[in-house]
Amino acid sequence: MIKCKSRNIVLIGFMGVGKGTIARALIKKMKKISLDTDDIIESMENRKIKTIFDEEGETYFRTLEKKLAKWLEKNVTNCIISTGGGFYKVDNLDDIGTVIYLQSSFEGILSRLQSHENAEQKLAKRPLLSDLEKAKKLFDERVIAYAKKADMTITVENKSVDVCVDEIIKKLKFK
Ligand code: S3P
Repeated sequence: MIKCKSRNIVLIGFMGVGKGTIARALIKKMKKISLDTDDIIESMENRKIKTIFDEEGETYFRTLEKKLAKWLEKNVTNCIISTGGGFYKVDNLDDIGTVIYLQSSFEGILSRLQSHENAEQKLAKRPLLSDLEKAKKLFDERVIAYAKKADMTITVENKSVDVCVDEIIKKLKFK
């Protein structure tokens, strides 16, 4: 079952894997609201993630993620929380809710992003995807850490959103 304390579900995984899409589909099937850590940070700062990276640098952005993680732990219950690809590093991830890692190969993520009608926009808003060679390296560094941090892993590659959502709900019942 979902961790009793908060009943939040926290979706983690690499950029573009579909955390926001799965979160939106999950809220239709579960009586929950969804929140997105990047969206909250953008409203906290009143500027886009890309601008925060450009103007302040990545370290500043990571500090905001940590601050937000503490706030989520204290204030949020019964939500689906989709997270930025690096949010998994916050110290209190496990205390925010049940952590689900959405897993795909790097190639699967790229083809998902490139097949999107707003592909260019999807790539441009993610500063850490601007250099694909570096992004692949980051992906390779992170995959094991994502799995370690998660209460469960769901492979999303080559599956419809509905199938992924049904799998998540089924696994949560037996957790
Ligand atoms: C990041 C992922 C982004 C965003 C920021 C950093 C990362 O979110 O938080 O650009 O470190 O992987 P998405 O995973 O939603 O693209």
